[in-house]
Formats: sequence, C-alpha cells, structure tokens
Amino acid sequence: MIPQDTTPQAEDNPLNTATRVFLGDLSGDGLLAWRLAVDGDRPGPDERNMQTEFMMGWYCIAYSHEVGVGQVKPVRYFAQDLAVWRGEDGQARVIDAYCAHYGANLAVGGKVYGNLLECPFHAWRWNEKGACEEIPYSKVIPPKAKRDNCIPSWPVREVNGMVMVWHHPDKAEPQWEPIEFSEATDDGWTDFRTYEWHVGTAMENIADNAVDVSHFKYVHGAKTVPEYEFEFDGIKRTITSYLKMHTPRGEIDGKIESISYGPGQGYVRFSGITDTVMMTGTCPVERDVTHNRMAFTQPKANVDGPTAGLTRAIVKDITRQFDQDKVILDRHKRVDPPLVCAGDGPFGRNRIYYEQFYASSTKPKPAAA
Ligand code: FES
Ligand SMILES: [Fe+2]
Repeated sequence: MIPQDTTPQAEDNPLNTATRVFLGDLSGDGLLAWRLAVDGDRPGPDERNMQTEFMMGWYCIAYSHEVGVGQVKPVRYFAQDLAVWRGEDGQARVIDAYCAHYGANLAVGGKVYGNLLECPFHAWRWNEKGACEEIPYSKVIPPKAKRDNCIPSWPVREVNGMVMVWHHPDKAEPQWEPIEFSEATDDGWTDFRTYEWHVGTAMENIADNAVDVSHFKYVHGAKTVPEYEFEFDGIKRTITSYLKMHTPRGEIDGKIESISYGPGQGYVRFSGITDTVMMTGTCPVERDVTHNRMAFTQPKANVDGPTAGLTRAIVKDITRQFDQDKVILDRHKRVDPPLVCAGDGPFGRNRIYYEQFYASSTKPKPAAA
C-alpha cells in the first residue's frame, strides 16, 4: 500500500469500478464493521497457498491506550491466544494466554495483582517471564512452575503509542529494536488518529502490495503510475515517490517516503501540501488473516488552518485505498512465484528483502522476473 493522489480522478475512472461497486455506500459504523470482518466461508489457507511461517520481527499487538494500568486484554496473533497486561509500575507485559496449571485463559477473567497476572481459575500469579511467583493457597510452588517460560513469554517494547512484541518462529532473542518516531512524542503534532482492518490474507501479500505499482491505476484509480525509487538496506526498505498533487490552489509537488523496518513496523511521511505521518502496524492473526493498523499524526498548526480540509482529505484517501485493497486481498490466492511482466514493480527484489525474516525453508519463492 502506497498512498497516492487519486482524489481528483477516482470518481471518473471506470477502471476501479469493481472495488467501488463492492464497497458501495458503506460508511460510518457499517464501514468500520466491514473493515474488521473476514468472510468465514472463504477457502482455507492451504487452498489459497498461505502456509508459510510467520516472519520474525516486532509487531504491534495493541495500542498503548487500550491497556491501562491494572488492565488485562486478550488478543490473538500468530495463530495463538495471548494475554497483555499492564502492572502497577506502568509496564506492559505479554505471555501466552493459557495457564500452565489447568489451562484457563488468563486474559479472560484474570486480574492484575501488582505487576503479576492472576489466573481466574485458581489464582496462581504469573510474572512477565511466564514464571509463577505466588499460589495463594499453597506454600510450595512446583519447581517447573517457577521456571521462566513455564508459560511462554514475549519480549515487549512500547514505542510510538504501540505495544509491540518480538516474534521469532524459533523463539530466538530480538535481532533489532523497534524504531521510535519523533512525531509520536512531539507536542507540535496531533494525537494519533487510528484506523484498523482485518484482511483475509497472509501478511506477505500485504507486503507485496507496497511494490505492486500497476495496481494503483486499476484498483485505486490513479491517473498515472508515478515513478518510484526503491531502496533495500538490511531490515530497512524505503520507497520514495514524487507526484503532482492537484489542489484548489493548483498543482503542487508532493513527496511520499515509505519506510519499513521489518515486516511489522512502517512509517510513511507525506510532504508537499501538508505534512502527514502515518505509522503502520501489520501483524498476522492467522495464516490467512492479517491485522493492519494505521495511525496518523499531523502538525497541529495545519489541522485548523487553511489546510484543514486537505489534512482530512489525505487521511480519507489513504484509508479508502486500503478499503479497496482489502476487497481484492480478502479473496485472492497467493501465486508463488508470481508471474510478472515489465511494468510490474520489483516483486522479486521485494521478496528477497522479506526472505531475511524467515527462519526456515517455508519461505515463499522469489518472483520470476
Ligand atoms: S488454571 Fe490457572 S490457576 Fe489453575
Ligand atoms: Fe493498494
């Protein structure tokens, strides 16, 4: 997904009719509900060729404000149920959801006890390393329960208003740190406006979408396909595009810089008409379901001034584009490797970039150019 200037011509472009007809008049609560829904009747992940392992990386599993001090929240990612809680010291913690004693879901009915998570079934109290520290009715804690990772635990960092966990298929330690973005703590920038989708596809397909330059015309109604520069540097992928943006004040040169730090964390900066920063958090839920978050911030000075309309329009346009992507991605089958032609984006190079995040032989094949 790369935001584009599509607003002026999208209404007239017959080429994006399919997604527009599908989206129809969806708006308001109906649109929000649709964004989080995934068709339960679709073919399974094997039939749709979505069996690859989940890539290593840092992933957003909750916004910070969703887990207050003393609260516990059940979440499901990487095809597992997890428990997220925030202790009285303000620190967010994540362990697998199922209690090692008798299997209760710690996140459903469990409560925060100091910095520990107390099970709703027999009140065993667990720390962030997945070790039991207290059993209120017993003087002796079984040695196995006292060990770290008796319940598997997850490395957690909290940056940019997001609770992030490190996922590695082999449970290896973090190999890099998540990136902090200065706008997230800059008083001159607004609080984040957040949007989210569940997409019925493997997250690799959302990753491919960013370099799929020709779909901008056919899915998003872009009048032309802008020029892109792609740069791959270790875990960092940068896509820069320059485009003419049509505004009531005439044509303005716009620049979009989209940076990924591994598969789960992204940062997009729009400059030209009005500065906008979008953080993205993409995290697999199941093999064939991905949670995509977008959080926008803009300079406070732009929100109420003469650029107010444009600042709203740019966010609306980007989220509308992802609605259109969801229509396609909810239904598609992974073609591996894809059959590409001249004029397609750098699918092959992009898949080589993503290969570094797989730990085993289940990685997808690079595209045949
Ligand atoms: S199942 Fe958790 S304390 Fe018994
Ligand atoms: Fe797209």
